[in-house]
Amino acid sequence: MQEKYIDESKQGEAFAIAEKPQNSRKLFLESYGCQMNFSDSEIVASILSEQGYNTTLKQEEADLILLNTCSIREKAEQTVRMRLSQFKNLKKEKPGLTVGVLGCMAERLKTKFLEEEQLVDLVVGPDAYRDLPNLLKETDGGRDAINVILSKDETYADINPVRLGGNGVTAFVTITRGCDNMCTFCVVPFTRGRERSRDPHSIIEECRTLWESGYKEITLLGQNVDSYLWYGGGAKKDFKNATEMQKSTAVRFAQLLEMVAQAVPQMRIRFSTSNPHDMTTDVFEMMARYENICKYVHLPVQSGSDRMLEKMNRQHTREEYLELIRKAKAIVPDIAFSQDMIVGFCGETEEDHQLTLSLMKEVEYDYGYMFAYSERPGTPAHKKMEDDVPADVKQRRLAEVIALQGELSRKRMSGYVGKIHEILIEGTSKKDENQWKGRNSQNAVCVFDKKPGQKIGDVIPVFVHGNTQGTLLGTAAAEISVAVN
Ligand code: SAH
Ligand code: F3S
Repeated sequence: MQEKYIDESKQGEAFAIAEKPQNSRKLFLESYGCQMNFSDSEIVASILSEQGYNTTLKQEEADLILLNTCSIREKAEQTVRMRLSQFKNLKKEKPGLTVGVLGCMAERLKTKFLEEEQLVDLVVGPDAYRDLPNLLKETDGGRDAINVILSKDETYADINPVRLGGNGVTAFVTITRGCDNMCTFCVVPFTRGRERSRDPHSIIEECRTLWESGYKEITLLGQNVDSYLWYGGGAKKDFKNATEMQKSTAVRFAQLLEMVAQAVPQMRIRFSTSNPHDMTTDVFEMMARYENICKYVHLPVQSGSDRMLEKMNRQHTREEYLELIRKAKAIVPDIAFSQDMIVGFCGETEEDHQLTLSLMKEVEYDYGYMFAYSERPGTPAHKKMEDDVPADVKQRRLAEVIALQGELSRKRMSGYVGKIHEILIEGTSKKDENQWKGRNSQNAVCVFDKKPGQKIGDVIPVFVHGNTQGTLLGTAAAEISVAVN
């Protein structure tokens, strides 16, 4: 199972690029968790490159080690703690070395981190990265430093992220930060604060710059992109106090999507994550209208049972979700969906679980990201509900949803066989260096033999002749016509 869009193999991977020659200090920066963290790390690298730090892939040569952490499930936190313990020897050997924790775990644990982990010198929450230069002055002076203040308006809009470790073809562009939804199981509203949207002009600017630098695909990123709302103010919750002028000129997600689609007409555009409660059909209409908006939506549902959806505070029913999917399929016939699912949430019965399985069959998702419920301290579910589904039952149900998703994925992938797909080449296949790896509009991975003249970043027609559970097997279509002629 993988974290969303971030390959399991990339979890905890340190990224580096050549930066400013005048910089003399070395930063080793590792990211865990969701795309937002990987994207934030690019902002951190950008801020620190102005402070004399270049990134490195070798932890031994680092002056500063930063872990951008995830709190979403207990296991994510355990991974980070294990990683921290591995730095112990390094720190003994190099007393000047500073070790810092960024992101959601920093925000959740705050000063506790400094108390619990003697090794950590620096704790910085997701809205405080601009303060890093000051905080590093403290640690340079031998003192611990912390800033975990959450902001109502920080979007890092003016910071041009340093693109770390990517393929030079696909990039993330953050459009919102935080989340106001308060799903009862979720720690994100506590670790990432109030929802706020980024100025559309700075988004468009970043997309244009990416296009000019050779990027071919962007993913607009937010915890809940459908809730995007720009009115010149800060937090979304304060929109009610906006002026009439601000209200009448406000930009919502579908409009932003259109602005981006027009600004970079050859760029492939994706977005993540969508929320069924906030998603409106005008987003699907934009997908149908603009060729360059990919026909794929990641639409987490978490459960197929109304009883569970209510306890999770998802603010929609099973039927409302299915209705949204039906409308989407009517507007964009070749649309593909993926899901997030939580099994074994508080009080989940066998009947609830069966409803999850039946919903999955009804939607026929292309992919899924499935998790056993992990109680997070401080969340409404932790405070008010009992985590009462035994671990073995959670694991069995998880195995069942994963097995079903496997069948559905295989079925969906086989539906792509026999047709020509536009594939954006992202790199060399991991399994075979003679093959390219890319994705179609529906986000299905496709591999095919390399031919001279093709390069990373090309979009080429590929005839799909077979599939595995998660991959399309193809042949560059130009070769087929050559062969036929
Ligand atoms: N809107 C966010 C969701 C973040 S959390 C986004 O941008 O993706 C990602 C997924 O983790 C959720 O959709 C949910 O399926 C899962 N998740 C969140 N909290 C969880 C918990 N306490 N236990 C298990 N899975 C959880
Ligand atoms: Fe979490 Fe629900 Fe927001 S899953 S990120 S509280 S939409």
